Amino acid sequence: MLTAYDFPSAYLLDQSEIDVVLVGDSLAMTVLGQENTLSVTMDQMIYHTSAVSRACKRALVVGDMPFGSYQSGINQAVQNGLRFIKEGNCAAVKLEGGKQRASIIAAMVEAEIPVMAHVGLTPQSMHRFGGFRVQGKSHETALAIIEDAFAVQEAGAFAVVLESIPIALAAEITPRLRIPTIGIGAGVHCDGQVLVWHDFLGLHQNRIPRFVKQYANLYPQMLHAVNDYCNEVRQGVFPDEQHGYCMPDQELFAEKVAEKYGNCAANPSDEGKLQESKI
Ligand code: KIV
Repeated sequence: MLTAYDFPSAYLLDQSEIDVVLVGDSLAMTVLGQENTLSVTMDQMIYHTSAVSRACKRALVVGDMPFGSYQSGINQAVQNGLRFIKEGNCAAVKLEGGKQRASIIAAMVEAEIPVMAHVGLTPQSMHRFGGFRVQGKSHETALAIIEDAFAVQEAGAFAVVLESIPIALAAEITPRLRIPTIGIGAGVHCDGQVLVWHDFLGLHQNRIPRFVKQYANLYPQMLHAVNDYCNEVRQGVFPDEQHGYCMPDQELFAEKVAEKYGNCAANPSDEGKLQESKI
């Protein structure tokens, strides 16, 4: 599983061997430049989920329920889950939390909304956790995460994300569940893995968590491309004839225009003219 937030990246993922495309609430940070995921809204999530769904003919699209869209009760959760399916056109939703969300998951599944659960480090609980910290390091908290994983499975979740937990804990949970585990910062013993698109491709220069492996580092290449473009435009190298259109009898046309409007500076990159008229 990888995240995507727009049509072109989702299209690429759909052409790849990826099984699941998650429209994560990480959208808030990766695309909208927020500090955390808490502020992203239902409308924003639906807008991006529908773009991703349009691109995916093969991969399963999962929409991530944002903070505040399911925490206040079953009715709210079902209503918002239905919006994801009807307006976002995805086939499933993801929500964060274990035991305390079991009744909500059960009601959503009952309402024909397939649910992927998410336990361990749940970023929407960052204020309770005191930041983005590895969860389940003590035996007591690790046992509580095992309980959470069983609870979401019993509630009817079809898969569960395990985020930022010790490798040994994910190795205990995975073989004990009937449903697949999808790890992020949870080690190799999960059934699947997920990464965030912008981290995975090195599309930014922000700090990345220890568990992220960058499969490409595209930021420097993109910066280089933009600066090449600026230089070529300033030097009049781009656009060359190859990237433009010719017209038949253009000399004759130039004569006609000169006859009607008089002569002008032939070279449009004439610096004096540019400075006067544009700057
Ligand atoms: O929002 C997100 O991208 C996620 C994944 C990191 C699992 O929840």
